[in-house]
Amino acid sequence: MLKLETLISEQDIQRRIEELGAQISKDYDGKEIIMLCVLKGGVMFMTDLAKRVTVPMKMEFMAVSSYGDEYKSSGIVKILKDLDEPIDGKHVLIVEDIIDSGRTLSYLKNILEGRNPSSVKICTLLDKPDQRVVDVEVDYVGFTIPDSFVIGYGLDYHQFYRNLPYIAVNKGE
Ligand code: HPA
Ligand code: MG
Repeated sequence: MLKLETLISEQDIQRRIEELGAQISKDYDGKEIIMLCVLKGGVMFMTDLAKRVTVPMKMEFMAVSSYGDEYKSSGIVKILKDLDEPIDGKHVLIVEDIIDSGRTLSYLKNILEGRNPSSVKICTLLDKPDQRVVDVEVDYVGFTIPDSFVIGYGLDYHQFYRNLPYIAVNKGE
């Protein structure tokens, strides 16, 4: 059994999302964005963030899987579900739940950049910089957190707990 302790409260998440939404709306003023959610972890964040964005936006979803285990893989990803529309000439904002090694994200960003968009930026709710192995530029960060396993608000433990409205750490064994 997990023994959960709140790391970031629902109120703190929502307040930070308001700030991020305002910043993104300002940065993309006069432009349109394609907000791209990487399934499944990014879903909660994407839907709440989208409500705070005031520029015209479309929602897209991608599902990817890494080859091999996360710690040994080169970050090469297989696309299980691709975007519904081409992105050439578009501004793409990748919305992630968490960035740790940065491998998968860096690879994904390269794939998208190969499709000639006007820009590709990254917005993550959580950043674990201690885990980083690949240098990837992150444009918007909700919270920088220490290197511990977190769950809730999209993040899972064996697919459970994604529905928690807050971010928790496990204090059990
Ligand atoms: N929790 C859940 N899923 C994850 C994490 C985490 O801390 N890091 C990468 N995927
Ligand atoms: Mg997971």
